[in-house]
Amino acid sequence: MSKWLFFASMLAAGWPAEAHNLMPVPAKMTPGQGRLAIDASFRVGFEGYQEARLKDATARLVRQLVRQTGIPIPLEAPGGGTPAALLIHCGRASDTVQNLREDESYRLRVTAGQTQLTAPTPLGVLRGLATFAQLVELDAQGFGVPTVEIVDSPRFAWRGLMIDVARHWIPLEVLKRHLDGMAAVKLNVFHWHLSDDQGFRIESRKFPKLQQMGSDGHYFTQQQVRELLAYARERGIRVVPEFDMPGHTSAWFPGYPELAAGPGPHEIERSWGIFDPCMDPTREEVYRFLDGFIGEMAALFPDEYFHIGGDEVNGKLWDSAPRIAEFKRQHGMRSNEDLQAYFTRRVQALVRKHGKKMIGWDEILHPDLPKDIVVQSWRGPQGLAQAARQGFRAILSNGYYLDLMHSAADHYLVDPLGGAASELTAEQKGRILGGEACMWMEYATERSVDARIWPRMAAIAERLWSPQEVRDVADMYRRLAAVSRELDWAGVDHQWQYEQALERLAGEGPVEPVRVLAEVVEPIKNYGRGQARKYTQQTPLNRLVDTAQPASDRAREFSELVERLPASEADVRRWLMLWRDNDARLQPLLRNSALLAEAAPVSANLAAVAVAGLEALEYRQSGRAPSTAWRQEKLGVLDRAAAPQAEVLLSVVPPIRKLIQSIQ
Ligand code: ACM
Repeated sequence: MSKWLFFASMLAAGWPAEAHNLMPVPAKMTPGQGRLAIDASFRVGFEGYQEARLKDATARLVRQLVRQTGIPIPLEAPGGGTPAALLIHCGRASDTVQNLREDESYRLRVTAGQTQLTAPTPLGVLRGLATFAQLVELDAQGFGVPTVEIVDSPRFAWRGLMIDVARHWIPLEVLKRHLDGMAAVKLNVFHWHLSDDQGFRIESRKFPKLQQMGSDGHYFTQQQVRELLAYARERGIRVVPEFDMPGHTSAWFPGYPELAAGPGPHEIERSWGIFDPCMDPTREEVYRFLDGFIGEMAALFPDEYFHIGGDEVNGKLWDSAPRIAEFKRQHGMRSNEDLQAYFTRRVQALVRKHGKKMIGWDEILHPDLPKDIVVQSWRGPQGLAQAARQGFRAILSNGYYLDLMHSAADHYLVDPLGGAASELTAEQKGRILGGEACMWMEYATERSVDARIWPRMAAIAERLWSPQEVRDVADMYRRLAAVSRELDWAGVDHQWQYEQALERLAGEGPVEPVRVLAEVVEPIKNYGRGQARKYTQQTPLNRLVDTAQPASDRAREFSELVERLPASEADVRRWLMLWRDNDARLQPLLRNSALLAEAAPVSANLAAVAVAGLEALEYRQSGRAPSTAWRQEKLGVLDRAAAPQAEVLLSVVPPIRKLIQSIQ
């Protein structure tokens, strides 16, 4: 059997439990025998094309190895007679501006004596270095990399993460951490949502009242933007700026009311939702302004794409202004969609004039637009296929909204070429460039955003990089746990943010009972928080709901234990007893922490469902059948515990329900 056939058969059979921890899974991989030791003599050598970016990337790798292993590996090891442990061969320079068409492939060959990393371009070298970093593991002999041969390239060219810095401000150093995380899982587009109703977050020198009156002082200077662009390029990441228009524009208008469709007064919006303020598409001065603004931003951002938003225009002010109604009548426009299409075409011409291609949310989709634009599908999976059928290129974000608090598995199983897109012709499929996860920041701050994005983002990164048939959820979760640690070594703060949030909740009290509760709850899903209470930009996000993981790993693992009964009985009992007893341990905190008080019913429910689970376990063990009355009472307990409280869901209710239903 050839190496590749062997690999294919391993894939088909599912990876063995002791297999690699790589995420994304490489396109082709042949495990060998033995390992390359990582020790203080670790040294990187270069052959072929060289540039500063490659040297910097290997210095980052060494720093990460030092963090991970604790071994004092020198940054500049003396060459001497020892062969380099990692020998890099790069073919040629990258394009001056990173783009969709560049080759990101690489080959990584680890033997007991040396690793050879070969790639046609620096981008491929960067991807190969990310793989090498993930291969490093501790075993009985120390730190090392298992021998392996990897031949790898991405499935999709556009693998992105969008971060909204408007709803809650995120400083530059926090964004840099996310770029480090993105590089670790081979993502290559950072989509920077820079303006929205709640903030205009970038310095304009042409129109300085944008940031002066639209940002509360929280904006990126152009110098900082250049710093981030350089940071991203060093990591092989494109930066696509978004200036959302004609809706989501409240923050533009305090400085420039002449752009607005309505009379004002104009203020930065402080709450969340879809608001009336929007630009006036009928006024020529709006396009003169946008010509100047887009020109300024197009010169600052080198990427060939420029995102103009285009989502969620409610059109109320377009309906109410007689001037706008008259404009629509004169131009034979029947709807506000027609008016928005007119606006989009005008803006697209400006974007093109300044040397860029336009990208926008799927509301911009209109057959009249030129075919070099890209449509970002967010409202439903069908928008993607529809765009591709009409001849547009498109990326998928529907199903990849990290702010909606779904599990890694939910996101992982969404495929850009699944669903309606699976029925496209090969040519149409070729127009689907990839996908982008979105982190909207209504319910996250710079202090929680790492824990909101990571590690789930890594599962989406795999969907966008790895072969389509890599979709074993259990194996994804096994590797995600390892990648979560690796992200920590790479500089992402998700684990630390979680610990800090627990400590904040505990105040002066012990953290452990808070952790036990937090581990088994999840924030309510989708847009539920906005319905639960009134939130604004000033609302502290410091509660249990802000602390809990988007999806509970503990509950998922407990469900697996319940599936494995009776073999797992001791473990199931141990967890149930811990949860039963946690309420008493938490009581002093519930009384003394203003942040935790609202969690009292959640904690009581956890104890009650744990008691129900323990009783069910006794019935299972004894072989006695419970009475109908018992069953009804316990299912009532579970139903009450299943209702959201304090905007969290008790995520161990479904497995305990299964346990009760499993007794005859
Ligand atoms: C969006 O989520 N409004 C693009």
